[in-house]
Amino acid sequence: MKTYKIAAIPGDGIGKEVIAAGIEVLNALAKREGRFAFKFDHFDWGSDYYKKHGVMMPEGGREAIRNHDAIFFGAVGAPDVPDHITLWGLRLAICQPFDQYANVRPTRILPGITSPLRNVTGPELDWVIVRENSEGEYAGVGGRVHKGLPEEAATDVALFTRAGVARIIRFAFNLARSRPRKLLTIVTKSNAQRHGMVMWDEIALEVAEEFPDVKWDKMLVDAMTMRMTLKPETLDTIVATNLHADILSDLAAALAGSLGIAPTANINPERKFPSMFEPIHGSAFDITGKGIANPTGTFWTATMMLDHLGEKEAGARLMRAIERVTADRNLHTPDLGGKATTRQVTDAVIKSIEGANE
Ligand code: IPM
Ligand code: MG
Repeated sequence: MKTYKIAAIPGDGIGKEVIAAGIEVLNALAKREGRFAFKFDHFDWGSDYYKKHGVMMPEGGREAIRNHDAIFFGAVGAPDVPDHITLWGLRLAICQPFDQYANVRPTRILPGITSPLRNVTGPELDWVIVRENSEGEYAGVGGRVHKGLPEEAATDVALFTRAGVARIIRFAFNLARSRPRKLLTIVTKSNAQRHGMVMWDEIALEVAEEFPDVKWDKMLVDAMTMRMTLKPETLDTIVATNLHADILSDLAAALAGSLGIAPTANINPERKFPSMFEPIHGSAFDITGKGIANPTGTFWTATMMLDHLGEKEAGARLMRAIERVTADRNLHTPDLGGKATTRQVTDAVIKSIEGANE
């Protein structure tokens, strides 16, 4: 029997709670499928590790997960450690060297969930946001001079490379092509940012020629927020820079009902390195330890991991189980306006996997 080796990095806050739930669900699914199993290796990296050792992950940490089939990641961020340390010390320290340049964020309104948009019940909103995940505004280029003095200055330089832009746009076109509507929207801000963003527009035109069967259009990011809100049905696949897509994906998650549901995959499409799967929501320390975190984002993320592993049918089975559970409003956690706990939602999904006669 095939055994998938998964590196579990729960990280901080509710990351620990939702990854534990995700592992239970994945094990139940593997049992139900009977064709494969998971071997989870656990890594206690994150802010607690930082407080003990002064680093978010040990030296050589990446080597320890280099040969896993996938990485199942919770969240990073703690109230008493600066965010840029936790982010750069763990999440980006994995994403960037492992060249997980395609960050994929599907958004849909799951059964039983209400969008804050009136007139939007479900089918009108079915998107995948592709976020450039290796450079741009997150390239880490910049610096500070005259620190602490009145003359202090700081720069954050957004770095765009032709290779980096072309590969993410090509990835997005391929993804758009694989979806029924074959529709891609390319987001930039090339009216104000006249170098890197203009290069995006030019590369988009070039790459589009390889995909005559995909319809595409372009939007400026500010206008895009309006289109997402007022005309969600006109969008399908979306590609944007690291920062723009970061912002748009929070908007997308909110429009789909809750950040607690939204999944993400950090993909190295060439499979030279393992890809990493995480819920979007972050560590949410305001609710940590209360047992009320919504595990749905992690379960949906797990379906993306299954797809990536080539277990598409198992991924689809898990997605159906998730949707049967979201359809029951008694099983909504507080982020969705309900009273259910992480435990109850997890048990319900496991029962749904075990009981389903399909
Ligand atoms: C995300 C998050 C992160 C990001 C934070 C935690 C730094 O918002 O994955 O969308 O900006 O990349
Ligand atoms: Mg974000």
